[in-house]
Amino acid sequence: MVSEQTLLQWVDDAVAAISSATDLDELKNARLAHTGDKSPIAQASRSLGSAPAEERARLGKLIGDARASVTAALDERREILEAQRDERVLLEEVVDVTLPSSRTHQGALHPITILKNEICDFFIAQGYGVADGPELEAEWLNFDALNMHADHPARTMQDTFFVEPLEARLVLRTHTSPVQIRTMLENQPPIYVICPGRTFRADELDATHTPVFAQVEGLVIDRGITMANLKGTLDLFAREMFGDEAITRLRPSFFPFTEPSAEVDVFFNGRWIEWGGCGMVNPKVLAACGIDSSIYSGFAFGMGLERTLIVRHGITDMRDIVEGDIRFSRTFGLGL
Ligand code: PHE
Repeated sequence: MVSEQTLLQWVDDAVAAISSATDLDELKNARLAHTGDKSPIAQASRSLGSAPAEERARLGKLIGDARASVTAALDERREILEAQRDERVLLEEVVDVTLPSSRTHQGALHPITILKNEICDFFIAQGYGVADGPELEAEWLNFDALNMHADHPARTMQDTFFVEPLEARLVLRTHTSPVQIRTMLENQPPIYVICPGRTFRADELDATHTPVFAQVEGLVIDRGITMANLKGTLDLFAREMFGDEAITRLRPSFFPFTEPSAEVDVFFNGRWIEWGGCGMVNPKVLAACGIDSSIYSGFAFGMGLERTLIVRHGITDMRDIVEGDIRFSRTFGLGL
């Protein structure tokens, strides 16, 4: 039978192993070795049954005391090691939020796209539709149907990108106005549409010109539409684009497809700025599209999106808009 001496020695061995454990894994090994099934204490407990009856109670108490001492040492050491572990985790797993990130940059919508969306939202909220047309356009729709005859200066080689073969009579549209014609040929009044889109003119790219630019066209055809409706619409549009202080003025002008025609200026940042063209749809154009001008009248307007952006944001170089550098685009926000 195990002696009291031996038991105390086991306890000493166990306590030594427990207090020398430097982390929770080592503590677990010490626990298994000194209190597990194969440990001397566990074996001594199991052999109690075969001990002489008069010895059993005393031995049982000694073994129980030995176990209690080892368990107490384990609990005490575990508490210390757990606290150390928690402290280490806090230090090692700390996140330095000031470190530079290696994330790849998110893209951003192009400022022209953001502006286009803004304009669409504004007009859609007033019940307008958004019309679309091809960038490679029939010469007839880009010019003739708009009352711009063959000798019109806008049709000379200088301004227009003609597309080969010339017999196909296709051009890169020089404005969004052909979408007016497409819309009127396909729909009966009342018509309330805007058409934003890319347009092309044979200009060199420099600080103030670009051969590829964007316009937005507006077209309204209904009973009793007057120039007052046009002016009111432009005023609202200008305020949406340039803020509540913006006002517009119309200056007499000429476009073959509107009569009367006007340039629309906007008063912004203390000065008048030319913004676009507008007018009452020429009855000849209405007739070409099969609309009875004794019943219906309408207005149209068109302006450049680059120009709108340049004026609104004080952009000094057109090339910043055209080049599509993400660093420029991001200054307008992501636009998402
Ligand atoms: N299409 C004209 C241009 O590009 C602008 C315009 C549109 C004028 C609609 C009047 C009406 O210059």
